[in-house]
Amino acid sequence: MPQPSKRLEKIPPYLFAEMARIKREAIEKGADVIDLGIGDPDLPTPIPVIEALAQSARNPVTHRYDETPRGWTSFIEAAARFYKREFGVELDANAAFTQVIGSKEGLAHLAWAYLDPGDTCIVPNPAYTVYKVNALMAGADVFEVPLHEGNGFLPELRDIPTDTARAAKLFYVCYPNNPTGATATPEFYRELVEFCRTYDILAVNDMAYGTVCYDGFKNPTILQVPGGQDVAIEFHSLSKMYNMTGWRLGFACGNADAVATLQRLKSNIDSKAFPAVSEAGAHALDHVSNADTIALYERRRDNLVDGLRSIGWNVTKPKAAFYIWARVPVQGMSSAEFAAALLEKAHVLVIPGNGYGSEGEGFVRMSLTLMGDKDGERFAEAVKRIAASGLVPQTAGV
Ligand SMILES: Cc1ncc(COP(=O)(O)O)c(C=O)c1O
Repeated sequence: MPQPSKRLEKIPPYLFAEMARIKREAIEKGADVIDLGIGDPDLPTPIPVIEALAQSARNPVTHRYDETPRGWTSFIEAAARFYKREFGVELDANAAFTQVIGSKEGLAHLAWAYLDPGDTCIVPNPAYTVYKVNALMAGADVFEVPLHEGNGFLPELRDIPTDTARAAKLFYVCYPNNPTGATATPEFYRELVEFCRTYDILAVNDMAYGTVCYDGFKNPTILQVPGGQDVAIEFHSLSKMYNMTGWRLGFACGNADAVATLQRLKSNIDSKAFPAVSEAGAHALDHVSNADTIALYERRRDNLVDGLRSIGWNVTKPKAAFYIWARVPVQGMSSAEFAAALLEKAHVLVIPGNGYGSEGEGFVRMSLTLMGDKDGERFAEAVKRIAASGLVPQTAGV
Protein backbone atom coordinates (compact mmCIF):
# COMPACT_ATOMS: atom_id res chain seq x y z
CA MET A 1 0.00 0.00 0.00
CA PRO A 2 1.19 3.57 -0.63
CA GLN A 3 1.98 5.74 2.37
CA PRO A 4 -0.84 8.00 3.61
CA SER A 5 -0.28 11.72 3.00
CA LYS A 6 2.15 13.68 5.18
CA ARG A 7 -0.82 15.84 6.11
CA LEU A 8 -2.37 12.96 8.05
CA GLU A 9 0.72 12.84 10.26
CA LYS A 10 -0.32 16.26 11.56
CA ILE A 11 -3.26 14.74 13.40
CA PRO A 12 -2.23 14.55 17.07
CA PRO A 13 -2.34 11.19 18.87
CA TYR A 14 -5.66 10.18 20.38
CA LEU A 15 -5.31 11.22 24.01
CA PHE A 16 -8.29 9.29 25.28
CA ALA A 17 -7.02 5.85 24.27
CA GLU A 18 -5.78 5.09 27.79
CA MET A 19 -9.15 6.09 29.28
CA ALA A 20 -10.94 3.88 26.76
CA ARG A 21 -8.69 0.96 27.77
CA ILE A 22 -9.36 1.38 31.51
CA LYS A 23 -13.09 1.72 30.85
CA ARG A 24 -13.12 -1.45 28.75
CA GLU A 25 -11.27 -3.39 31.45
CA ALA A 26 -13.61 -2.16 34.19
CA ILE A 27 -16.70 -3.12 32.18
CA GLU A 28 -15.22 -6.56 31.40
CA LYS A 29 -14.85 -7.08 35.15
CA GLY A 30 -18.54 -6.26 35.56
CA ALA A 31 -18.22 -2.67 36.85
CA ASP A 32 -21.14 -0.29 36.41
CA VAL A 33 -19.25 2.62 34.83
CA ILE A 34 -20.88 6.07 34.93
CA ASP A 35 -19.56 7.62 31.72
CA LEU A 36 -19.54 11.41 32.03
CA GLY A 37 -17.26 11.62 29.00
CA ILE A 38 -19.66 11.53 26.10
CA GLY A 39 -21.00 14.86 24.79
CA ASP A 40 -23.82 13.32 22.79
CA PRO A 41 -27.48 13.84 23.81
CA ASP A 42 -28.80 10.65 25.41
CA LEU A 43 -32.46 11.40 24.65
CA PRO A 44 -33.98 10.34 21.31
CA THR A 45 -34.87 12.77 18.55
CA PRO A 46 -38.38 14.22 19.15
CA ILE A 47 -41.15 12.14 17.53
CA PRO A 48 -42.50 14.99 15.33
CA VAL A 49 -39.09 15.23 13.63
CA ILE A 50 -39.05 11.49 12.97
CA GLU A 51 -42.58 11.69 11.58
CA ALA A 52 -41.57 14.57 9.32
CA LEU A 53 -38.68 12.44 8.05
CA ALA A 54 -40.95 9.46 7.38
CA GLN A 55 -43.40 11.61 5.47
CA SER A 56 -40.70 13.32 3.41
CA ALA A 57 -38.92 10.05 2.69
CA ARG A 58 -42.12 8.78 1.01
CA ASN A 59 -41.98 11.68 -1.44
CA PRO A 60 -39.80 10.71 -4.44
CA VAL A 61 -38.78 14.36 -4.85
CA THR A 62 -36.45 13.80 -1.90
CA HIS A 63 -34.78 10.76 -3.49
CA ARG A 64 -32.60 12.81 -5.80
CA TYR A 65 -29.61 15.11 -5.42
CA ASP A 66 -30.30 18.42 -3.75
CA GLU A 67 -29.36 20.67 -6.66
CA THR A 68 -29.98 23.99 -4.89
CA PRO A 69 -27.01 26.34 -4.61
CA ARG A 70 -26.89 26.55 -0.79
CA GLY A 71 -29.08 23.84 0.67
CA TRP A 72 -32.62 22.52 0.60
CA THR A 73 -34.88 25.56 0.25
CA SER A 74 -37.34 24.75 3.04
CA PHE A 75 -34.40 24.09 5.39
CA ILE A 76 -32.58 27.33 4.57
CA GLU A 77 -35.79 29.34 4.90
CA ALA A 78 -36.55 27.68 8.25
CA ALA A 79 -32.98 28.44 9.37
CA ALA A 80 -33.46 32.12 8.53
CA ARG A 81 -36.77 32.20 10.46
CA PHE A 82 -35.14 30.38 13.39
CA TYR A 83 -32.24 32.85 13.47
CA LYS A 84 -34.60 35.82 13.49
CA ARG A 85 -36.83 34.29 16.17
CA GLU A 86 -34.00 33.09 18.40
CA PHE A 87 -31.45 35.90 18.02
CA GLY A 88 -33.50 38.81 16.65
CA VAL A 89 -31.39 39.22 13.50
CA GLU A 90 -32.85 39.13 10.01
CA LEU A 91 -30.40 37.60 7.53
CA ASP A 92 -30.96 37.15 3.80
CA ALA A 93 -31.97 33.51 3.27
CA ASN A 94 -30.65 33.64 -0.31
CA ALA A 95 -27.18 34.95 0.48
CA ALA A 96 -26.28 34.58 4.14
CA PHE A 97 -26.86 30.84 4.73
CA THR A 98 -25.47 27.53 3.64
CA GLN A 99 -26.42 24.06 4.81
CA VAL A 100 -23.75 21.81 6.32
CA ILE A 101 -23.57 18.08 7.05
CA GLY A 102 -23.28 18.78 10.77
CA SER A 103 -21.29 21.77 11.98
CA LYS A 104 -18.10 19.69 12.28
CA GLU A 105 -18.05 19.25 8.52
CA GLY A 106 -18.59 22.97 7.93
CA LEU A 107 -16.03 24.11 10.50
CA ALA A 108 -13.45 21.75 9.02
CA HIS A 109 -14.08 22.69 5.41
CA LEU A 110 -13.98 26.40 6.18
CA ALA A 111 -10.30 25.94 7.10
CA TRP A 112 -9.70 24.21 3.76
CA ALA A 113 -11.56 26.96 1.90
CA TYR A 114 -9.43 29.75 3.38
CA LEU A 115 -6.04 28.45 4.45
CA ASP A 116 -2.97 27.79 2.33
CA PRO A 117 0.38 26.53 3.58
CA GLY A 118 2.06 29.37 5.47
CA ASP A 119 -1.19 31.18 6.33
CA THR A 120 -2.08 31.75 9.97
CA CYS A 121 -5.15 30.65 11.88
CA ILE A 122 -5.99 31.65 15.47
CA VAL A 123 -7.69 29.02 17.61
CA PRO A 124 -8.54 28.91 21.32
CA ASN A 125 -6.79 26.59 23.76
CA PRO A 126 -8.53 24.56 25.18
CA ALA A 127 -10.93 23.89 22.31
CA TYR A 128 -12.89 21.40 20.26
CA THR A 129 -10.00 19.93 18.30
CA VAL A 130 -11.51 20.23 14.80
CA TYR A 131 -10.40 23.86 14.26
CA LYS A 132 -6.72 23.24 14.95
CA VAL A 133 -6.44 19.87 13.26
CA ASN A 134 -7.95 21.09 9.99
CA ALA A 135 -5.92 24.31 9.96
CA LEU A 136 -2.79 22.18 10.44
CA MET A 137 -3.79 19.71 7.74
CA ALA A 138 -4.38 22.64 5.36
CA GLY A 139 -0.75 23.58 6.04
CA ALA A 140 -1.43 26.73 8.08
CA ASP A 141 0.47 27.95 11.12
CA VAL A 142 -1.76 27.80 14.17
CA PHE A 143 -1.61 30.40 16.94
CA GLU A 144 -3.32 29.16 20.09
CA VAL A 145 -4.80 31.87 22.26
CA PRO A 146 -5.26 30.66 25.85
CA LEU A 147 -8.66 30.73 27.55
CA HIS A 148 -8.11 31.58 31.20
CA GLU A 149 -10.62 31.20 33.98
CA GLY A 150 -9.77 34.71 35.22
CA ASN A 151 -11.03 36.13 31.93
CA GLY A 152 -14.20 34.02 31.84
CA PHE A 153 -12.55 31.65 29.34
CA LEU A 154 -12.67 34.40 26.69
CA PRO A 155 -9.51 35.03 24.64
CA GLU A 156 -7.48 38.12 25.63
CA LEU A 157 -7.23 39.83 22.27
CA ARG A 158 -4.55 42.26 23.42
CA ASP A 159 -2.22 39.32 24.14
CA ILE A 160 -2.19 38.28 20.48
CA PRO A 161 1.05 39.58 18.91
CA THR A 162 0.45 42.19 16.20
CA ASP A 163 2.45 40.18 13.63
CA THR A 164 0.26 37.17 14.28
CA ALA A 165 -2.90 39.25 13.98
CA ARG A 166 -1.68 40.72 10.70
CA ALA A 167 -0.90 37.29 9.30
CA ALA A 168 -4.11 35.61 10.48
CA LYS A 169 -6.96 34.83 8.10
CA LEU A 170 -9.31 32.96 10.44
CA PHE A 171 -10.06 33.29 14.16
CA TYR A 172 -12.16 30.44 15.57
CA VAL A 173 -14.15 30.91 18.78
CA CYS A 174 -16.91 28.81 20.32
CA TYR A 175 -19.64 30.16 22.62
CA PRO A 176 -21.36 28.65 24.48
CA ASN A 177 -18.05 26.90 24.90
CA ASN A 178 -16.99 23.29 24.71
CA PRO A 179 -15.18 22.29 26.92
CA THR A 180 -15.38 25.08 29.53
CA GLY A 181 -19.14 25.80 29.51
CA ALA A 182 -18.31 29.53 29.30
CA THR A 183 -20.56 31.99 27.51
CA ALA A 184 -19.71 35.13 25.57
CA THR A 185 -20.77 38.71 26.14
CA PRO A 186 -21.80 41.34 23.59
CA GLU A 187 -18.76 43.38 24.74
CA PHE A 188 -16.46 40.50 23.81
CA TYR A 189 -18.08 40.18 20.41
CA ARG A 190 -17.75 43.93 19.84
CA GLU A 191 -14.02 43.69 20.63
CA LEU A 192 -13.65 40.66 18.37
CA VAL A 193 -15.39 42.44 15.49
CA GLU A 194 -13.08 45.43 15.93
CA PHE A 195 -10.02 43.18 16.07
CA CYS A 196 -11.06 41.23 12.96
CA ARG A 197 -11.90 44.40 11.07
CA THR A 198 -8.54 45.96 11.95
CA TYR A 199 -6.54 42.93 10.81
CA ASP A 200 -8.82 41.68 8.03
CA ILE A 201 -9.64 38.36 9.66
CA LEU A 202 -12.76 36.21 9.30
CA ALA A 203 -14.21 35.50 12.76
CA VAL A 204 -15.71 32.02 13.00
CA ASN A 205 -18.12 31.41 15.86
CA ASP A 206 -19.01 27.79 16.54
CA MET A 207 -22.48 27.94 18.09
CA ALA A 208 -23.18 24.21 18.28
CA TYR A 209 -24.59 24.86 21.78
CA GLY A 210 -26.27 28.16 20.85
CA THR A 211 -29.66 27.26 22.31
CA VAL A 212 -28.51 24.92 25.08
CA CYS A 213 -28.81 27.58 27.78
CA TYR A 214 -30.09 27.45 31.37
CA ASP A 215 -31.89 29.67 33.85
CA GLY A 216 -33.42 31.68 30.98
CA PHE A 217 -29.98 32.81 29.76
CA LYS A 218 -29.62 33.59 26.05
CA ASN A 219 -26.14 33.46 24.60
CA PRO A 220 -25.52 36.51 22.40
CA THR A 221 -24.22 36.11 18.85
CA ILE A 222 -21.50 37.94 16.96
CA LEU A 223 -23.97 38.73 14.16
CA GLN A 224 -26.01 40.81 16.61
CA VAL A 225 -23.28 43.38 17.19
CA PRO A 226 -22.61 46.25 14.76
CA GLY A 227 -20.24 45.18 11.99
CA GLY A 228 -20.54 41.50 12.90
CA GLN A 229 -22.01 40.58 9.55
CA ASP A 230 -19.01 42.20 7.81
CA VAL A 231 -16.43 39.99 9.47
CA ALA A 232 -18.06 36.85 10.83
CA ILE A 233 -19.56 33.49 10.00
CA GLU A 234 -21.38 31.32 12.53
CA PHE A 235 -22.00 27.59 12.60
CA HIS A 236 -25.24 26.23 14.05
CA SER A 237 -26.17 22.62 14.51
CA LEU A 238 -29.34 20.66 15.03
CA SER A 239 -27.30 17.97 16.80
CA LYS A 240 -27.41 19.17 20.39
CA MET A 241 -30.45 21.40 20.03
CA TYR A 242 -32.84 18.64 18.93
CA ASN A 243 -30.99 15.43 19.89
CA MET A 244 -30.13 14.89 16.23
CA THR A 245 -26.39 14.14 16.29
CA GLY A 246 -26.69 11.18 13.93
CA TRP A 247 -28.74 13.10 11.37
CA ARG A 248 -25.77 15.31 10.39
CA LEU A 249 -27.52 18.60 9.91
CA GLY A 250 -26.54 22.20 10.53
CA PHE A 251 -26.07 25.55 8.84
CA ALA A 252 -23.54 28.33 8.50
CA CYS A 253 -24.71 31.92 8.36
CA GLY A 254 -23.28 35.41 8.31
CA ASN A 255 -20.99 37.22 5.91
CA ALA A 256 -22.19 36.45 2.37
CA ASP A 257 -18.68 36.14 0.87
CA ALA A 258 -17.60 33.70 3.56
CA VAL A 259 -20.75 31.62 3.14
CA ALA A 260 -20.24 31.55 -0.66
CA THR A 261 -16.56 30.61 -0.27
CA LEU A 262 -17.42 27.70 1.96
CA GLN A 263 -20.11 26.55 -0.42
CA ARG A 264 -17.70 26.79 -3.38
CA LEU A 265 -15.45 24.24 -1.72
CA LYS A 266 -18.29 22.05 -0.50
CA SER A 267 -19.93 21.82 -3.93
CA ASN A 268 -16.80 19.99 -5.09
CA ILE A 269 -16.79 17.57 -2.16
CA ASP A 270 -20.30 16.65 -1.04
CA SER A 271 -23.67 16.64 -2.72
CA LYS A 272 -25.54 17.93 0.32
CA ALA A 273 -27.77 16.05 2.72
CA PHE A 274 -30.58 13.60 1.99
CA PRO A 275 -33.42 16.05 1.21
CA ALA A 276 -35.85 14.15 3.47
CA VAL A 277 -33.46 14.78 6.37
CA SER A 278 -33.35 18.47 5.41
CA GLU A 279 -37.17 18.57 5.36
CA ALA A 280 -37.27 17.03 8.83
CA GLY A 281 -34.69 19.58 9.98
CA ALA A 282 -36.87 22.39 8.65
CA HIS A 283 -39.76 20.97 10.66
CA ALA A 284 -37.60 20.89 13.80
CA LEU A 285 -36.42 24.48 13.33
CA ASP A 286 -39.95 25.76 12.75
CA HIS A 287 -42.00 23.70 15.17
CA VAL A 288 -40.00 21.84 17.82
CA SER A 289 -39.01 23.20 21.21
CA ASN A 290 -36.04 21.83 23.15
CA ALA A 291 -37.37 23.20 26.45
CA ASP A 292 -37.95 19.76 28.07
CA THR A 293 -34.43 18.59 27.22
CA ILE A 294 -32.95 21.80 28.60
CA ALA A 295 -35.01 21.44 31.78
CA LEU A 296 -33.64 17.90 32.23
CA TYR A 297 -30.01 19.02 31.70
CA GLU A 298 -30.64 21.81 34.19
CA ARG A 299 -31.79 19.33 36.85
CA ARG A 300 -28.81 17.08 36.14
CA ARG A 301 -26.46 20.07 36.30
CA ASP A 302 -27.87 21.05 39.68
CA ASN A 303 -27.61 17.49 41.00
CA LEU A 304 -24.01 17.18 39.88
CA VAL A 305 -22.71 20.66 40.71
CA ASP A 306 -24.53 21.03 44.02
CA GLY A 307 -23.51 17.48 44.92
CA LEU A 308 -19.85 18.05 44.10
CA ARG A 309 -19.85 21.30 46.04
CA SER A 310 -21.37 19.51 49.02
CA ILE A 311 -18.39 17.12 49.10
CA GLY A 312 -15.86 19.94 48.86
CA TRP A 313 -15.23 20.11 45.10
CA ASN A 314 -15.99 23.71 44.28
CA VAL A 315 -17.01 23.61 40.62
CA THR A 316 -18.64 26.31 38.52
CA LYS A 317 -22.28 25.99 37.48
CA PRO A 318 -22.43 26.64 33.71
CA LYS A 319 -25.11 28.86 32.16
CA ALA A 320 -24.98 27.00 28.86
CA ALA A 321 -23.72 23.94 26.92
CA PHE A 322 -23.75 20.63 28.76
CA TYR A 323 -20.32 20.46 30.31
CA ILE A 324 -18.94 20.94 33.79
CA TRP A 325 -15.32 22.10 33.58
CA ALA A 326 -13.75 21.45 36.94
CA ARG A 327 -10.30 21.93 38.39
CA VAL A 328 -8.56 18.70 39.40
CA PRO A 329 -9.19 18.69 43.15
CA VAL A 330 -6.04 16.79 44.15
CA GLN A 331 -2.79 18.74 44.40
CA GLY A 332 0.02 17.30 42.32
CA MET A 333 -2.19 15.09 40.14
CA SER A 334 -2.36 15.75 36.42
CA SER A 335 -5.71 15.72 34.62
CA ALA A 336 -4.97 12.31 33.12
CA GLU A 337 -3.80 10.82 36.45
CA PHE A 338 -6.89 12.09 38.24
CA ALA A 339 -9.26 10.85 35.52
CA ALA A 340 -7.60 7.41 35.52
CA ALA A 341 -7.74 7.20 39.33
CA LEU A 342 -11.41 8.23 39.38
CA LEU A 343 -12.27 5.62 36.79
CA GLU A 344 -10.43 2.92 38.73
CA LYS A 345 -11.70 3.81 42.20
CA ALA A 346 -15.19 5.23 41.55
CA HIS A 347 -15.96 3.82 38.09
CA VAL A 348 -16.79 7.38 37.05
CA LEU A 349 -15.37 8.46 33.70
CA VAL A 350 -14.42 12.11 33.17
CA ILE A 351 -12.33 13.54 30.33
CA PRO A 352 -8.85 14.90 31.11
CA GLY A 353 -8.81 18.60 30.16
CA ASN A 354 -5.49 18.39 28.31
CA GLY A 355 -7.31 16.42 25.60
CA TYR A 356 -8.62 19.84 24.48
CA GLY A 357 -5.20 21.52 24.50
CA SER A 358 -2.33 22.26 26.85
CA GLU A 359 -4.34 24.96 28.67
CA GLY A 360 -6.83 22.29 29.68
CA GLU A 361 -4.23 20.66 31.92
CA GLY A 362 -5.41 20.85 35.52
CA PHE A 363 -9.09 20.46 34.54
CA VAL A 364 -11.50 17.65 33.75
CA ARG A 365 -14.72 17.78 31.74
CA MET A 366 -17.96 16.11 32.79
CA SER A 367 -20.93 15.89 30.46
CA LEU A 368 -24.61 16.10 31.40
CA THR A 369 -25.67 13.73 28.61
CA LEU A 370 -25.60 10.44 30.47
CA MET A 371 -27.26 7.46 28.86
CA GLY A 372 -29.48 5.62 31.35
CA ASP A 373 -30.10 8.61 33.63
CA LYS A 374 -33.77 9.54 34.01
CA ASP A 375 -33.86 12.58 36.21
CA GLY A 376 -30.43 13.18 37.69
CA GLU A 377 -30.24 10.06 39.87
CA ARG A 378 -27.10 8.74 38.14
CA PHE A 379 -25.41 12.08 38.76
CA ALA A 380 -26.28 11.84 42.43
CA GLU A 381 -24.81 8.31 42.37
CA ALA A 382 -21.63 9.64 40.68
CA VAL A 383 -21.24 12.22 43.46
CA LYS A 384 -21.64 9.49 46.10
CA ARG A 385 -18.98 7.37 44.47
CA ILE A 386 -16.59 10.30 44.02
CA ALA A 387 -16.97 11.11 47.72
CA ALA A 388 -16.34 7.46 48.65
CA SER A 389 -13.22 7.29 46.44
CA GLY A 390 -11.47 9.74 48.75
CA LEU A 391 -10.14 11.54 45.67
CA VAL A 392 -11.79 14.81 46.64
CA PRO A 393 -10.19 16.13 49.80
CA GLN A 394 -12.87 17.71 52.00
CA THR A 395 -11.18 21.10 51.68
CA ALA A 396 -10.77 20.95 47.89
CA GLY A 397 -11.34 24.30 46.25
CA VAL A 398 -13.08 25.69 49.32
C1 LIG B 1 -17.94 22.69 20.02
C2 LIG B 1 -18.51 21.74 19.05
N1 LIG B 1 -18.68 22.16 17.78
C3 LIG B 1 -19.18 21.35 16.85
C4 LIG B 1 -19.53 20.05 17.15
C5 LIG B 1 -20.02 19.16 16.04
O1 LIG B 1 -21.37 19.05 16.02
P1 LIG B 1 -22.15 18.50 14.74
O2 LIG B 1 -22.86 17.28 15.21
O3 LIG B 1 -23.05 19.61 14.32
O4 LIG B 1 -21.14 18.18 13.70
C6 LIG B 1 -19.37 19.57 18.44
C7 LIG B 1 -19.71 18.18 18.78
O5 LIG B 1 -19.46 17.66 19.83
C8 LIG B 1 -18.85 20.44 19.42
O6 LIG B 1 -18.69 20.06 20.68
